Amino acid sequence: MAEDLHITTGSKEEQYQSLLPQIQGLLEGEADQTANLANVCAALKQQFGWLWVGFYLVKPNAAAGADELVLGPFQGPVACTRIRFGKGVCGSCWKEGKTLIVPDVEKFPGHIACSSLSKSEIVIPLKDRERVWGVLDVDSQELDQFDETDQIFLEKISSWLRP
Ligand code: SME
Repeated sequence: MAEDLHITTGSKEEQYQSLLPQIQGLLEGEADQTANLANVCAALKQQFGWLWVGFYLVKPNAAAGADELVLGPFQGPVACTRIRFGKGVCGSCWKEGKTLIVPDVEKFPGHIACSSLSKSEIVIPLKDRERVWGVLDVDSQELDQFDETDQIFLEKISSWLRP
């Protein structure tokens, strides 16, 4: 596996097409979850330069008597550490079990503003069969930055990840 990521220019789809096999290479033969999630964040952040790319993982909170999302590997500014089921874009994605694209975070009721710089967002559920075990969250400083192309490719990358 090459340690250096090859960064490309071109359309968004061309950038994903170049990045995907490189991410596959990074994941190949490595079973450690933290290592893999960390490298996926780094690769996405390096290629696209988004404000924030990271994972929240479903974990038990004994005191609350419920599972919640806990901050995992990420790239970008410091972020909120815990998100409850159904709260914010991430908690809603967990609850609904489907990708959420938010063109303007200010228009999403209950959006959790970890950074005032974030303007648009996409959140992808990480699934083990039907069970959501975490989410991949990507934030942009620009409005309306995410579309079906991001959904398709980010869902593909997410399908390679294991709980
Ligand atoms: N905006 C997210 C919170 C996570 S941060 O963006 C990193 C939400 O509403 O769930």
